[in-house]
Parts: sequence; C-alpha cells; structure tokens
Amino acid sequence: MEGFQLKAANGKSMQALEVFSSAISFLKQHLLDAINITRLDDDRLEANDVLWVLTVPAIWSEKSKHFMIAAAKKAGIDKADLCIALEPECAAILGNKLYSNKNSSEVAKVGAKYMVIDLGGGTCDIVVHELLENGDAKEIERAIGTDAGGTTVDKKFQEYLGKILTMTVIEEMKAKYPADWKNIERDLELVKKSLNDCRGSAIVTLTSCLDKVYMAFNSICISEAFKCNEIEQTVKEHVDMQGEHRLKIDKLIIENMLREVFRLVKNEIQALLDKSEINLDYVILVGGFSNSSVILKEMEDHFNPIPVVRPHEAELAVLRGAVLYGLRKNPIRSRISRKTYGYRTKRKFEDGDPECQSYYDDEKSKLCDAFETIVTIGESVKTGDKVTQYYRPVNANQTAILLNVYSSEKKNVKYCNEEGVDKVGTLLVDMPDTTGGKDRKVKIEISFGKTYMQVEATDPNSGKVFNATFDFLCK
Ligand SMILES: Nc1ncnc2c1ncn2[C@@H]1O[C@H](COP(=O)(O)OP(=O)(O)OP(=O)(O)O)[C@@H](O)[C@H]1O
Ligand SMILES: [Mg+2]
Repeated sequence: MEGFQLKAANGKSMQALEVFSSAISFLKQHLLDAINITRLDDDRLEANDVLWVLTVPAIWSEKSKHFMIAAAKKAGIDKADLCIALEPECAAILGNKLYSNKNSSEVAKVGAKYMVIDLGGGTCDIVVHELLENGDAKEIERAIGTDAGGTTVDKKFQEYLGKILTMTVIEEMKAKYPADWKNIERDLELVKKSLNDCRGSAIVTLTSCLDKVYMAFNSICISEAFKCNEIEQTVKEHVDMQGEHRLKIDKLIIENMLREVFRLVKNEIQALLDKSEINLDYVILVGGFSNSSVILKEMEDHFNPIPVVRPHEAELAVLRGAVLYGLRKNPIRSRISRKTYGYRTKRKFEDGDPECQSYYDDEKSKLCDAFETIVTIGESVKTGDKVTQYYRPVNANQTAILLNVYSSEKKNVKYCNEEGVDKVGTLLVDMPDTTGGKDRKVKIEISFGKTYMQVEATDPNSGKVFNATFDFLCK
C-alpha cells in the first residue's frame, strides 16, 4: 500500500493513498461545513453522526475496495460509519424507483430481470439483477465490465490528433504546456457533449502553444502545413483548418470514436447474454457517457425491443442511488461471487495428490500443501451468509493465526501453486492470550455476500471476540 504511487501529467509522483484520502477528506469537510453553517446552536454535526456511503465499481478487486476503506479511514471516517456500495447497484435502486413509478409496475415487477450499465469516464460496470419484493433485488450473473468509457474517446481523439500533428508533437505539448493542453482537452469535452448540436463538423480550438511546439519540429505553423499539403491525405479528407487555430473535424469522425467505444461495451454485454440465456425485461443505463445521444441510440438499437431506461442527469444516478442505498438495509439480498477464493492449508495427503505437494509433519504424517475453497466463482451468496471455519494454534505459545488468501477465475482449484491461482492477501487473527496453549480454538466467519469481504473471529466457547483483519494491500 505504501508503495502505490500516482503520476501526474507533469511526471511528479505522489502516494495514491494520500491523493484518495485527501479527496475524501475534502468532500467530508465540505458536507459538514455546509450543514453546520445552517445550524445556529452548538449542536454541530460531526463525522461520526453520518453514515458515509462510498461508492466503487462492482468489478473492482478486493484490493481496490480495501484500499478505498483505508483511504476513508485516513480521511477520518470510522469503519463503523462507512458503507461501501457498488455503483451499478446504487443506480439500480434509483432506476427501479423511477421506472416503477413511471410504468405503474408494468415491467418492473417482482421476478423481472434487468441489466444495469454504468458507463462512466474510465469504466463500464455491468450487473444483472432479478427484482424481489419491496424493491429489493438479487444478483443473477456475476458483475462484468471493461475499462471503456468517455475517456476512451478522449484517448482516441488524442491519437487522431497525433495522426494529424504526429505523436511526438502531442507528447512534447503535454510535457511542456500541461495547462494549455488541458484547454484543448476541455474543448474536446465540449465537442463530445454537444455533438448533436454540431452541423456537419465540430470545431476544436488549437492553442498558440501547440502551434509553437509544431513549429519547433516542422518549421511551419499548423495552418501553413494544411495549405502546403504537409498533412496526410487520408486525414485531410475529414479535417481542415478554419483560420489559424480552429481545427474543423468531420462530425462523423468523432461519432465513430463513440461508436467504437460502444462496440467494446456491446461485446462484453453480448458475451454475457450469450452465455447466460437470460431474458431481460429492461435495461437501466446510467453514467455520464450514457448522456451521449449517440450512445443511447446505439444501446436502444442493440437491445430493441427491450426498453432502455436512462434516468434524467444520468451522471448523477449513482450518487442519488447511493443516498437511497444508505437509507435501506441490504437492498441487494444476494450476490454472485466474481472469483473462487480460498486459503493455503495443510490437509491429509490423498490418492491422486502430486508428490511435489507432499511433506511430513513432526509426527511423520504425510500432509498435502493444498487450497481450501471458501467460495466458488459464480456461486450465489446471500448477503448475510458466512462461511465458518475452526482453527487451533499449531504451537502452544502462538499469539496469532495467519492465513494466506488466494483467488482464481477457475472453478476447481486444488493447490495454491496452480496456474491462474494468485495470492491476493492475508487473514490475520490475533490471539494474544496463550492460556490453554494448543487447546485454544478460534471460529472464523467470512462474509462474501456483502459488497466487500469481511471477517469476524471469536472463541466458540466464551464468545470472546478476537481482532481479525484481511489485508489485501500487501500481498
Ligand atoms: N453528453 C455527453 N456526451 C458524451 N460524453 C459525455 C456526456 N456527458 C458526460 N460525458 C462523459 O462521461 C464521462 C464522465 O462520466 P461519469 O461522471 O459517470 O464518470 P465517473 O463516474 O467519474 O467515472 P467512472 O465511472 O469511470 O469511475 C466523461 O468522460 C465525460 O466526458
Ligand atoms: Mg462512475
């Protein structure tokens, strides 16, 4: 965790935990200040008076989710006041509420199956649910997604600009004039959002700094290069300069960039639907990128005749849904495990176990170094379900039990060193009181159905609670 660094556009690095916790801390303080300013009495709202709902993509790993919990803790939010919510689930709660109001429960009725697609900046996050009573739901397919969204279009645009001006010029521009480059990015953002209002072509303003960098490499300015046929012919068919700084691009070029991103998302969706044979009743489409009329149209055509519902201000759907999520108690009653999880264990050597996994303990018994499955990929786990295991210390003076946690996308895992099996973290149970020696027993209960993996450890005889923690941040 300590080593995880983020790099800024200017090449400077900073601890990721510092960046994330500062952002959370700012939002926390902003909310407290905004509320406290309206209070005339001394009854000030404190951080621990609030249930903080922190949303994360459903496809995030345990490591990423635990990282966010650590960042919230560093920002002064107690774990007891923190609720980790999965973004498409929040959107589902809002979408269903709006949809059932609008359609008098014609479609959004108990037993209906729907898909939520959260199309944001850098992630597309997809879940499939079945609607239960009281607006609750259960997950019926494991969450899928891909790293495609609005910023994928930005990258494609950058590559396209690179085709016109060369990537060397673009890279130099970013390194030398990062603030100015931001202006160009902002202009593209406007173009991307107002494609509907453009006629045949969109205008992106190229700054004088970009011209300066281009001149340094080509000895002429950009508009001159267009006039002197210095620009590749295939590109020139769709772009031109209007005056010195206005780059005129065929609207179709940008629309096609959006469609290319849509295709990435469509492939993910189709692979899931082909595999699962689910008959969807409706689709809830949210996230900033779904505001695009091109994307909405592509989605509607793809799902036709299944209705696609896009809430008003789709970029705020997760936020609004998160508030509803925080006010409800476990609105998602079960989830599908995205991976097989287990830990490294020593069990009796059995016929069929490879010799390389064998070893002998102090009593000369032949044991096997194996993987003990706790949950299997694709398994449906109720939110409140716990997997219970009992342990005893191996040594009388042992003050902790440490388990190595592994995960895999395979269904059947027997050994931790198999291909496709990775160590993802550790589970540490503190047992400081050594009274009882080897006869001490600990009951470990792991919850998988929640939004992130949680653990509790107790003495099964006395009920005494042991301090137990997952650590997914240092492998
Ligand atoms: N009308 C629009 N047309 C096209 N793109 C849009 C439109 N409105 C917003 N976007 C894009 O949506 C993206 C932001 O969406 P959103 O706010 O849902 O992302 P996010 O939640 O911050 O990111 P992520 O979900 O990937 O973590 C940006 O890339 C933005 O350019
Ligand atoms: Mg988002």
